[in-house]
Amino acid sequence: MKVITNIRKMQEFSRQVRGAGLRIGFVPTMGYLHEGHVELVRHAREHSDVVVVSIFVNPAQFDRKDDFDRYPRDEQGDIALLEHEGVEVLFMPKAEEVYAPGAATRVRVEGLTDGLCGPRRPGHFEGVATVVAALLNMVGPDRAWFGEKDYQQLQVIRRMVSDLHIPVEIIGVETVREPDGVAMSSRNARLTQEQREIAPVIRRALCAMADGYLAGETSAVRLTDTARAVLATQPDVRLEYLEVVDGASLKGVERADDHTVIAIAAWLGDVRLIDNIVLSRVREHADVPSAAAVPTHIHGGANPHA
Ligand code: PAJ
Repeated sequence: MKVITNIRKMQEFSRQVRGAGLRIGFVPTMGYLHEGHVELVRHAREHSDVVVVSIFVNPAQFDRKDDFDRYPRDEQGDIALLEHEGVEVLFMPKAEEVYAPGAATRVRVEGLTDGLCGPRRPGHFEGVATVVAALLNMVGPDRAWFGEKDYQQLQVIRRMVSDLHIPVEIIGVETVREPDGVAMSSRNARLTQEQREIAPVIRRALCAMADGYLAGETSAVRLTDTARAVLATQPDVRLEYLEVVDGASLKGVERADDHTVIAIAAWLGDVRLIDNIVLSRVREHADVPSAAAVPTHIHGGANPHA
C-alpha cells in the first residue's frame, strides 16, 4: 500500500490512474477504523480498480475542542487493517496543507442542515462539506462510499456534490452493527464498560418504533412515545433528539411512511452517540427487526481495536 501525505502527489497519482483508464474508488475517514469503515472499503474494492482511503481528523468539523483532542487515533492499527483489505493508497494529508494559511472558503449546505445534528453542532456540517469537497478535489475519484450511520452527513454530501457538479458518484452503505445492535463508531471506544452495556437501548428504542410502524402505527408522536418508554428504562441515557423525518428533505413528518427515517442522538456520560433507522429498509428485510430480537446485521471479521 502506498501512503501519500502530499496533496499534489495525490492529485498527480490520481491523474495517472485515471489516464490509464482505471476507476478510482474513495472512502474518506477520520481513522480508528472499525468494521463499519471496512464495509465501505469492501464495497469500494468490489467496484473500483484502485481504492483510496483517506484518514484525516478534520479539525473544522469538531464543534468542541475536547472532542477533537480526545478523538481516538491508531495509525499503525489502521495501516495494518487497510493493507489486509488490499487498499492501494492511504491518503493522509496534513492539516497545514488542507487548510493553508489564508484559507477562507467554506461550503455550506442549506436546508438539510436546519434540523437534527445541524443546530446542535454549530459549524459541524460546514466543516464536513468543506473538507469532503476538498478531499474529492484531491483524490478525484469516480465513486465515493459513505455510511448511512451518519445519515444526515450522507444527504448533505449528496446535495453538495450535486449542487457543485462534482463529477463523482456518491454511494450510501447500510449501518454496520455490533452483535448487540450498537452501531459501530470510533467513539464507542470512549464508553466505559458500564456505558457500553447500556448503549444497546438506543437501538432497541429505534427497533420498537420500527416494530410499531410495521404493526400499522404511523403517528410520529405515538411512535416516539414508544421509544421514549424504552429509553426511560436506562436513566443514564440522555436523549438529545429523537425525530421522525422525511428521508430526503430531513424535515419532520407527522405520519411515518416508507420514505421516513427515524434519527436519534443521545449522550452516555460525555460520549455522544447517533443512530437511525430507515423505514424502507425495515420493510425490505425479510428478517423483521424486533425490540427483543437479535439485530439484523451482524458483521464479523478482524477489528484491531476489539
Ligand atoms: P468517520 O466517522 O471516520 O466515518 C467515515 C465513514 O464511515 C463515513 O462515511 C461514516 O458514515 C462511515 N461509518 C462510520 N460508522 C459506520 C457504521 N457503523 N456503518 C457504516 N458506515 C459507517 O464521517 C466521517 O468520518 C467524517 O465526517 C468524514 C466524512 C471523513 C469527513 O471528515
